[in-house]
Amino acid sequence: MNLVLLGPPGVGKGTQGRMLSETLEVPWLSSGDMLRDAVREGTALGKRADGSMRQGELVEDSLIVEIMGERLRRADATKGFILDGYPRTRGQAEALAAVLAQLGRTLSAALLLDLPDEDVVTRLSGRRICERCGRVYHVEFDPPERDGRCDVDDGELIRRDDDRPETIRRRLVVYHREIEPLLRYYEAEWVLRRIDGSGPPAEVNKRFEAVLASAGV
Ligand code: AP5
Repeated sequence: MNLVLLGPPGVGKGTQGRMLSETLEVPWLSSGDMLRDAVREGTALGKRADGSMRQGELVEDSLIVEIMGERLRRADATKGFILDGYPRTRGQAEALAAVLAQLGRTLSAALLLDLPDEDVVTRLSGRRICERCGRVYHVEFDPPERDGRCDVDDGELIRRDDDRPETIRRRLVVYHREIEPLLRYYEAEWVLRRIDGSGPPAEVNKRFEAVLASAGV
């Protein structure tokens, strides 16, 4: 099962990606997490990506295409994958198709998780992340047992750098600029499926399962 998750920042791609990864037993590959790891580790790649990410802009296609192409060739992705945050431009979608063709594989579905902008702003503004283990919380929808501390390892809960209001606004502008050409691309490939992202995570997850079952993937 080779899946792509599309959708605005904060719609819940990571939340659903993790859940689907457990039930489908394929790796969840988040381009944003890979870039944030590179920034944290101070690699050459991380240094190139850092400025764009802080401003809510996309990193250059060539950079992310290289990282994701390399990741998809690793052994654990041979049985399938859930791509979260990649591709984000039509150029990236074409690069992904080229890698899959080289590997003799095709995309099973591109799943667009959708939600109005005002709701994604609420989700992003309340997101908190454990600085140790990366567990994601929401102050209102999925709060920790103790304020500001992770339930798993007691790590401090922090806000992601790009979850500041002005950066959220910029990320949404960039999303709306890039998404239409990407949707047209996947519509033409007959793999696009749309999923309503409203309601609690378990409810959204049931919609994913229904869509995947009806698409026969
Ligand atoms: P990336 O990390 O991919 O960020 P994003 O797409 O903006 O998405 P997020 O991770 O912010 O949100 P999400 O949809 O995963 O939501 P989540 O599940 O956490 O990218 C970051 C940056 O990296 C980009 O801006 C760019 O610079 C760069 N980048 C990455 N990929 C790139 C690419 N391909 N090309 C170029 N540049 C790239 O949920 C959000 C919150 O809502 C959480 O608090 C969660 O608990 C809560 N929540 C989730 N689901 C629900 C629900 N159903 N109900 C209530 N609350 C919910």
